[in-house]
Amino acid sequence: MLWGLDEYFFFHYNGYGARRPCASAPTNWVIHEKGNTMLELRDISFEVSGEKAQKEIIRNVNLKIEENRFVVITGPNGGGKSTLAKLIAGIEKPTSGKIFLDGEDITEKSITERARLGISFAFQQPVRFKGIQVLDLIRMAAGKQMSAAEACRYLSEVGLCAKDYINREVNASLSGGELKRIEIATVLARGTKLSVFDEPEAGIDLWSFQNLIQVFERMQEKTKDGSILIISHQERILNIADEIVVIAEGQIAQQGSREEILPKLLGTASAVTVCSRFYQGGEGQC
Ligand SMILES: Nc1ncnc2c1ncn2[C@@H]1O[C@H](COP(=O)(O)OP(=O)(O)OP(=O)(O)O)[C@@H](O)[C@H]1O
Ligand SMILES: [Mg+2]
Repeated sequence: MLWGLDEYFFFHYNGYGARRPCASAPTNWVIHEKGNTMLELRDISFEVSGEKAQKEIIRNVNLKIEENRFVVITGPNGGGKSTLAKLIAGIEKPTSGKIFLDGEDITEKSITERARLGISFAFQQPVRFKGIQVLDLIRMAAGKQMSAAEACRYLSEVGLCAKDYINREVNASLSGGELKRIEIATVLARGTKLSVFDEPEAGIDLWSFQNLIQVFERMQEKTKDGSILIISHQERILNIADEIVVIAEGQIAQQGSREEILPKLLGTASAVTVCSRFYQGGEGQC
C-alpha cells in the first residue's frame, strides 16, 4: 500500500474532529452506550489480482462491533486479520460489501475521513519517519498542544523511559520493539472512539509485554470511552476480551464471548501462550 506522507500523518496524527465527544462536540454525535452497534461490516469481500486469477482474501464477512467493547481478533497466519483491519481503517477498499460506522456508510470514505470520524489504527509493522521527533509524533496524534511532560506519560505507559525517547528521531535508529511501542503510545494519545491495534505484542520483549498487557487491561476497564479492536495471538490479551472473533481463510470461523470461545481455542495454534512462544523462539525458559 502506497500513500502520501500527508495522508499518513493525518490518519495517524491529526486528532482534530476525531476526539471523543467533549464540550465542543458537534451536536449530532451519537451517545455511546453498551449494546449499540458502532461498526458494522456487511457482506465484505476483498480480492486481489493474482498471477493467473483473482485471489479472494476476505470472503463475505459480516461483523458487528458494539460500542464500549474490547474485541480481540485471532486466527492462523495468513487468515486475513490484517487485511480486515486495513479495510476498517480505509487503507484497502472492499471489492464488495459495505462498512458502517455509527450507522453511516463509510465504505467509500478515505483513510483521512475515517480518521476524522474517529478510527485510529496501529500497524503490525509501523512506519519510520526521518526528521520527526517522538515528541512531535505524540503531539500530532493528540491533535492539540501538549507539554513534553504530558507526552512523556504516554511513553511511560508503554514501558519506555520517556526522557530517553522524547527527543529521538523516528528513524531507523529505533529498534522494531521501540517503534512499535511508540506507535501504540500515539494511538493512546489520539484516544479515538475506535482504536485498532494489529498484533501490538509483535516484536515486544517478554518483560515489556507484561507492562503492555497492563496498558490494555486499563484500556479494557475504560472502554466506556470507545471500542478497542486488537488483533492478537496472545492468551493474556484474549483473556481480557469481551468478545473474540476467529478469522481463518478469509472468513469468520468463530465469534462470541470470551467465556464461550477461549476454551475452544486454548491448546490450538490460535492461542499461543507467552511462555511457549518465548521458549519455542529459543530465547530462554520461563
Ligand atoms: N495485496 C495483496 N496481494 C496479494 N496477497 C495478499 C495481499 N494482501 C494480503 N495478501 C494475502 O492475503 C492473506 C491474508 O493476509 P493478512 O496479512 O491479512 O493475514 P493475517 O491474518 O494478518 O496473517 P498474520 O497472522 O501472519 O499477520 C495472506 O495469504 C497474504 O499473503
Ligand atoms: Mg497480520
